[in-house]
Formats: sequence, C-alpha cells, structure tokens
Amino acid sequence: MKTTVRKALLADYRPIARILLEQAQNQELLSLEAKIKKGLQLAQGAHHPMTAVNEAGRVLGYALWHLVPRLDIGGPEAYLAEIRVEKVAQGQGVGKALLAAVQAQAQAQGCVRICLGITGETGFFEKQGFKRQNNLGLTLELRA
Ligand SMILES: CC(C)(COP(=O)(O)OP(=O)(O)OC[C@H]1O[C@@H](n2cnc3c(N)ncnc32)[C@H](O)[C@@H]1OP(=O)(O)O)[C@@H](O)C(=O)NCCC(=O)NCCS
Repeated sequence: MKTTVRKALLADYRPIARILLEQAQNQELLSLEAKIKKGLQLAQGAHHPMTAVNEAGRVLGYALWHLVPRLDIGGPEAYLAEIRVEKVAQGQGVGKALLAAVQAQAQAQGCVRICLGITGETGFFEKQGFKRQNNLGLTLELRA
C-alpha cells in the first residue's frame, strides 16, 4: 500500500476519532471528536501530530510525538506518545512508515533518542530497533 505521512491537519480530527474509537472502549464519538480537535489545536510548536494517508487521502493511522529539551544527554529527546493504525490497514507497513517519519523529523531536529510513552504491546517497537533500557523503558538511539 502506498502510504504518505504528513503533518496532521485540524480536519483530521474525524478520522483520528474513528481510529481511536475502534481501539478504545467506553468512548462516545462526538465528545471524542471534540477532544481530538482541541488536542490538535494545542499541538503546535514542539508537538508533532502526524497522519499516514493512502493515495485516496484516507487517514490510515496517526502518531503524536513531542520534542522534550534535555540538558544532560547532548540534545533533545523525542517522546512518542501515541501511534495507531486502523485495524483494516494494520500489518501493511503503515505503522512502520509513521515511525520512520517520526524518526526522520526527530533526527532533523537534533533529537538524540526516541522514548516511548506507550505501555502494553511492545513487539512492534522492538522489531523497529527499540531497546530496553533500565528505568527508561524502550528507547531508540538516534546518534550516528
Ligand atoms: C502497533 C501498530 C501501530 C503497528 O502498525 P502496523 O501498521 O500494523 O505495523 P506494520 O505493518 O508497519 O509492521 C511493521 C513491522 O512490525 C511488525 N509488527 C507489527 N505489529 C507487531 C506486534 N504487535 N508485535 C511484533 N511485531 C509487530 C510487522 O510484522 C512488521 O514486520 P516486518 O518489518 O518484518 O515486516 C498497530 O498495529 C496498531 O495501531 N496497534 C494498536 C494500537 C497500539 O497498540 N498502538 C501502540 C500504543 S499507542
């Protein structure tokens, strides 16, 4: 599947709500859409919402990462808070494309590593080269 990853637009709040709704229980669509819209409006500057779209422009998945300044590790850290792909599009490289775009953006902004703000299933991240570090959880070093 040809997937393009781009900055999430405010108009993406509906497809993002669709993806979240199929993975989260006890959510109500309209209030979820309103919360996501607010989140996207807040996500400026050091906050990076991204969406993966197919050739028809359908949003297949999204990721949200934050640039966290650090003084002690030689550069800022990229904090990956969310990455989700809609069920029917899973297993076709969309998550990998999203993560590659996060990595490229983070590297371009001088980040020295990606940390995960994600619990639960970690197989996908380990497959993408994340390593477990004491007290830090899974991280991906970005230093050359
Ligand atoms: C985790 C997730 C983002 C992966 O996206 P995806 O589009 O299905 O993954 P891809 O098709 O890009 O897979 C890339 C590689 O990772 C592997 N992979 C994917 N999910 C995996 C898992 N759960 N465990 C181990 N490996 C996994 C694939 O086999 C593939 O391997 P390959 O490069 O050798 O072919 C997606 O499955 C998802 O949204 N899951 C539910 C939400 C979630 O748990 N998000 C993370 C917390 S916010």
